[in-house]
Amino acid sequence: MSIAPSIQVTEDGQAFRAAPEARPDDRFATLDELVAGARDAIADDGLWDFLEGGAGDEQTLADNRAAFARLRLRPRLMSGIGVPSLETTFFGIELGVPILTSPFGAEGQFHPEGHLAVARANAVAGAASIVPEASTFSLEDIAAAAPRAARIMQLHPMGSERTVAWMIGRAAAAGYGAICFTCDCPTAGWRERNLRNRFDVDLAAVSGNYPPDGEVGLEEVFGQLFRRDEPIWTWERLAAVAAEGGLPWMAKGVLTAEDALAAAHAGARAVLVSNHGGRQLDGAPASLSQLPEIARALEGGAVEIALDSGVRRGADVIKALALGADAVVVGRLAAYALAAGGERGVARMHELLREEMITIMSLVGRERIADLDRSMLQAP
Ligand SMILES: Cc1cc2nc3c(=O)[nH]c(=O)nc-3n(C[C@H](O)[C@H](O)[C@H](O)COP(=O)(O)O)c2cc1C
Repeated sequence: MSIAPSIQVTEDGQAFRAAPEARPDDRFATLDELVAGARDAIADDGLWDFLEGGAGDEQTLADNRAAFARLRLRPRLMSGIGVPSLETTFFGIELGVPILTSPFGAEGQFHPEGHLAVARANAVAGAASIVPEASTFSLEDIAAAAPRAARIMQLHPMGSERTVAWMIGRAAAAGYGAICFTCDCPTAGWRERNLRNRFDVDLAAVSGNYPPDGEVGLEEVFGQLFRRDEPIWTWERLAAVAAEGGLPWMAKGVLTAEDALAAAHAGARAVLVSNHGGRQLDGAPASLSQLPEIARALEGGAVEIALDSGVRRGADVIKALALGADAVVVGRLAAYALAAGGERGVARMHELLREEMITIMSLVGRERIADLDRSMLQAP
């Protein structure tokens, strides 16, 4: 995997940025045009299907979008509000926009700068990165690409406790403030597009944290996704490793009140309501549909809530926040933006999301993120 010319790697292996801050790529007038730009940039149909596709019949993938489309926003007139502010805090992080980018792995296949570019664009936009364990780049290089940016490290609670603890230590040393444990992926989902296409992820694209000459091998960490021969971890095992690691953590993949409470009991400070973008259990409900159940279960406690799966525009972010999320995570949307235009593409995504959110907040008469609530929503 080659590193783009604007990135230089120092002798100790740290990547840094040589070029000045990238301007948003205004060739793309809408978020849809970023998707079209990604399609143009990704020549390999198998790779495109890997990005686009979901598990099984892709019912959950479709439901994620349908759930957003069903919700209606109630306009409010003559509100007297000024320019809406998108600033908020989530998980102890001060955000300029209520948005984080999701940990999408193998991202160097979409653009050679991968999460280095995403992290830099996020830093400028005031968004935070959830950096994937299966990134093309090491967590240290991504931290160095945007040193002042807020970042959370995603890990799989899988394999040996020793390796997970070692990765938490690496993340803490590189300045990551928190861990996001992906709990819905103890085995890879049944993704038929990949089977039909005979598509395999390029191992170099997922080995940033586990290089061939490194301390821990790729097979040791991710082999279980396909071998399926070890017991799935429990909340107790996760709680013990997380407590020893000492960083605050969130559980990714929560879709039920039962699991939200179990995660809270295990010590999670936040849950990420997610069905992995429809890529894991087909037939699982849309994340947005589960948000009220989870918000109710966690009401009155200190556990915060983020949501991903199906977010494709600013209106979706607003709807999720109104329904009880504290922050929203964008997955494929950020991957499309990255593929379409690298750092400038992701910067453009943030710009378009921001403008749309401000427009909507003006039309529903809400000045601050904290003002968004269920009274502005109407089911058809
Ligand atoms: C290409 C791709 C790779 C992904 N890799 C990971 C991963 O390594 N770890 C993880 O927790 N989630 C992974 N995800 C899931 C995302 O983090 C996120 O949950 C999902 O994309 C949200 O749905 P959306 O794409 O509809 O926004 C991946 C998603 C995509 C599209």
